[in-house]
Amino acid sequence: MMRIERMHFEGAPGETVLVELTTPESALLARDGARLHEGERTLAQSFTAPARRDAFLAGRLAVHAGLANAGDSRAHRMPVLRDGRGRPQPSWADAPAISIAHTKIRAVAAVSTVRTCKALGVDVEEIDAHRAEALLRMAISPEERKLLAEVDPQLVVAPIALWCAREACVKTHGLDVGWFGSVLQVSSIQPTPPRLTDAATGWDIEAAWNIEVRFESRAPMHAHAWQANGAVFALSGR
Ligand SMILES: CC(C)(COP(=O)(O)OP(=O)(O)OC[C@H]1O[C@@H](n2cnc3c(N)ncnc32)[C@H](O)[C@@H]1OP(=O)(O)O)[C@@H](O)C(=O)NCCC(=O)NCCS
Repeated sequence: MMRIERMHFEGAPGETVLVELTTPESALLARDGARLHEGERTLAQSFTAPARRDAFLAGRLAVHAGLANAGDSRAHRMPVLRDGRGRPQPSWADAPAISIAHTKIRAVAAVSTVRTCKALGVDVEEIDAHRAEALLRMAISPEERKLLAEVDPQLVVAPIALWCAREACVKTHGLDVGWFGSVLQVSSIQPTPPRLTDAATGWDIEAAWNIEVRFESRAPMHAHAWQANGAVFALSGR
């Protein structure tokens, strides 16, 4: 199933199109993936693991749906390739800011509708208590843990939101950080009304937060994160 929404959030100018593609089965992906540009299909084939290939195809289908929704008339004929660091790279000039993320069961893509948006970062993670516990053990400082406990005493969803916020900021700001990202410090996590409000399309948002992330002496970065449909999503932009 594909959901397409538009939203405003702190940090990114203009409206952002958010696309979520859930539980794409391999057979369906192979069929829909055939519509993708040959350059994208060739890239997909370069991944030996079938799950990674499927995730790549799902991400490309999501980003093309977002580009079409944002009104980019060239996107349906041109491939979104990857640069040397793995970032998704439109192969045409003056493309909007885009970002992609995936889990085993869903892909998300963000596309800006305005050219003043220089970069977007999106992330998604499935909610999983074991994953939250591992993050708390390996990647979250005692100060961050205290902040998280104030908004989520169970410490299951907020640790994952913190992780997604960090990854969204890494993607937006092109940061090179260690695997656990512990050099990125979350300095505040504030409950906020969700920026995605269209309940009619079944987002079923249970909580949302604005998260401030600090990295060395840079100006603080911001991400908007929300819990919905068994996962946590985060977006940041500049
Ligand atoms: C780049 C990075 C954020 C990708 O995250 P991931 O969990 O591996 O995968 P996600 O599902 O979130 O995103 C994958 C997509 O991100 C995009 N991507 C990959 N590298 C990227 C980069 N350097 N910048 C922006 N986007 C990138 C790609 O579109 C990729 O999908 P595709 O290869 O199918 O096109 C991650 O590999 C990384 O280096 N993180 C820094 C270390 C870290 O995780 N720290 C903890 C949080 S800061």
